Amino acid sequence: MQIVILPDADQVAEYAANAFVRQINHKLYSVLGLATGSTPLATYERLIQRYQAGKVSFRAVQTFNLDEYLGLAPDHPQSYRYFMNQAFFDHIDVRPENTHVPDGLAVDPQAACEAFERRLQAAGGIDLQLLGLGRNGHIGFNEPTSSLASRTRVKTLAPATVRDNARFFEPTEFQPELSLTMGIGTIMESRSVMLLATGEHKADAVARMVEGAVSAACPASVLQFHPHTRVVVDEAAAQSLALKAFYQHTEHQAQRLEAQARSHGPMA
Ligand code: F6R
Repeated sequence: MQIVILPDADQVAEYAANAFVRQINHKLYSVLGLATGSTPLATYERLIQRYQAGKVSFRAVQTFNLDEYLGLAPDHPQSYRYFMNQAFFDHIDVRPENTHVPDGLAVDPQAACEAFERRLQAAGGIDLQLLGLGRNGHIGFNEPTSSLASRTRVKTLAPATVRDNARFFEPTEFQPELSLTMGIGTIMESRSVMLLATGEHKADAVARMVEGAVSAACPASVLQFHPHTRVVVDEAAAQSLALKAFYQHTEHQAQRLEAQARSHGPMA
């Protein structure tokens, strides 16, 4: 795992947006894995700005979202499809038919999950997967004790997740407790992963993911097995990392090597 610690959430978003722009400009037909929630919002805002400034085009890109609430229509304001359209897709030149979000209204949800997997395979798999991190260590809606080999399927949300996400729903509104989510095995097949976490409330989950034992009790810890994962956090989310200074030192060395390679100069 590459651990990148930045001063604040703004710089995390800036870092992530730059990485996505680089990915797309390197491969115009990139397949992107996307997330909802509060964390990636600032990254999407920056990507919209980059698009408006002519620095990137999403015309040939395909996107696959991690998850959707079971029982919510695409035009329901709390559905993840609605969120993605409002926060991102409606403001860029991605083709709507190239954006894939699991179908929350599927009559046969398991069949819909299998169809989603087939579409992902047909697209050639994910080049860069963006992830947030649940306070309980979930990625997508793969709650603690999810199989580390799981594929896209229906999952029951953990009570902690239902509580965490209640802030998006009116007190009297129906809040789903079931979801369709990419599996952990599916996420692990992404060619590269970028997990973002910001704020003190994520510090404990970040430490368990990076420095804890790999365990289904903290699904994100499986990323320790992924060969190209970058964990990008702000200082607040990094505060419980025992080896924080070492990660900063490693990152500093990596940047030095990169600068060196760019200038083709000899090592100092
Ligand atoms: C969202 C998702 C979730 C969130 C996680 C963090 O598509 O898959 O795993 O990334 O719950 O949510 P925020 O960013 O709201 O703290």
